[in-house]
Amino acid sequence: MTYLLALDQGTTSSRAIVFNDQGNVMASAQREITLSTPHAGWVEQNALELWQTQIGVAQQAIVKAGLLAQDIAAIGLTNQRETTIIWNKKTGQPIAPAIVWQDRRTAEWCESLRLAGHEPLVQQKTGLRLDPYFSAGKLVWLLDHIPKAREQAQRGELAFGTVDSWLLWNLTRGARHVIDMSNASRTLLMNLHTRQWDDELLELFNIPRALLPEIVPSGGLIGETADGLLGRRIPLTAALGDQQAALFGQSCFKQGMAKNTYGTGCFMLMNTGPQVQISQNQLLSTLAWQTPDQTTHYALEGSVFMAGAIVQWLRDGLNIIRDSSDVEKLASQVPDCDGVVLVPAFTGLGAPYWDSEARGMITGMTRGTNRFHIARAALEAIAFQVADVLTAMQHDAHGPLTELRVDGGASGNDMLMQFQADLLGVPVLRPVVRETTALGAALMAGLGAGIFKSVDELSGLWQLERRFEPSMDSVTRASHLERWHRAVARARS
Ligand code: G3P
Repeated sequence: MTYLLALDQGTTSSRAIVFNDQGNVMASAQREITLSTPHAGWVEQNALELWQTQIGVAQQAIVKAGLLAQDIAAIGLTNQRETTIIWNKKTGQPIAPAIVWQDRRTAEWCESLRLAGHEPLVQQKTGLRLDPYFSAGKLVWLLDHIPKAREQAQRGELAFGTVDSWLLWNLTRGARHVIDMSNASRTLLMNLHTRQWDDELLELFNIPRALLPEIVPSGGLIGETADGLLGRRIPLTAALGDQQAALFGQSCFKQGMAKNTYGTGCFMLMNTGPQVQISQNQLLSTLAWQTPDQTTHYALEGSVFMAGAIVQWLRDGLNIIRDSSDVEKLASQVPDCDGVVLVPAFTGLGAPYWDSEARGMITGMTRGTNRFHIARAALEAIAFQVADVLTAMQHDAHGPLTELRVDGGASGNDMLMQFQADLLGVPVLRPVVRETTALGAALMAGLGAGIFKSVDELSGLWQLERRFEPSMDSVTRASHLERWHRAVARARS
């Protein structure tokens, strides 16, 4: 039997999962990581903690599977995207905390570039928007605020990376300073068409080229783990952003296939095939992956910032649930929200609104409103946001989207999945293996190591667990959506 190890460095935890070559989970290990918010809108993490927890769970997962390093054929890495780290190449120490994708401190920087008229060029080259979400602004902020950083960067003493680069640097003990193409496509610095760093953008943002990692394909030999880290050296044969990895793990290999991951946020990606398709409907264009045979796939993406994070807020902010899993029980105490709508614009709104100024709001409350209604409205808000993204995607897509594959924590919530199918009017398909992010990284690693000969060999591994059919009549659906859009308009005014 051949085993593959997936390392999944996410926003809330570092995880490692051992898979066999049939895509079955053999063992896993997980550690939570700390998130700090030192100022309003700032979100930071300790880059060393990301590395230490990740290598720790990798060691644990191998032991839990009853294996030794020599039993692992290859490692695939997947990660929270956009989060930005700069470190000193000599000491390997980060020069500042990692600035997390959710951080909004660069809103003004984005606004000034937008006012200067640069957004169309940026969108045409990168497929993205001038939004604090992406890495470039975070990188500029570090260069401008950490003493001596800019001079050191110009002298080539510093390295920039997203989380994949940082972990690959540490896994190879500094032998490789690289970034995979799917992660590079989230920086605002890679030209989506040439798949190279773009000189014009580097000049516009005033970023020294010496800082940047080498862009490598998502699948293929990147390097080997350094001696002593995991026992024997293990080939590192895949790296890709977590949402792209989930698209791959969901076997969305063909143009027009789409998945939605319910994590901290919600990320819907649709494979658009080998051509870049720039969205006309407020979505992002992104690189999905480049396989070892140099085939590149692109995707359209709708990123929603608050999904599972709303449930965390019910638990930690409102204290109306003890455990995130209690939300379904609470929400099902009432047949509907009784007119209550929750707009979770806690950090502004992502796709398709892209409004950093919007703020959270609960509308439609009466004397009869209770925590059950609020819990139900919180869950429904997740589904409403996904519906907005799907509508935009339907407009961009060349053919109709006929089904949506789902994964991530909240996809296990049957009530939410049924409401989702009802709102979308298309079936929602939940697979047996819901660890699709890690699975995608493992399968890509297998491809990179030559264990699988082609993507076609992988399609048969996807198995349906449950299919949710839409059952809501169109009048009810329209009235739900109308109430939601009225509430969104108020949250934005
Ligand atoms: O773009 C951000 C995304 O990659 C974060 O994903 O699952 O760590 O919340 P997750």
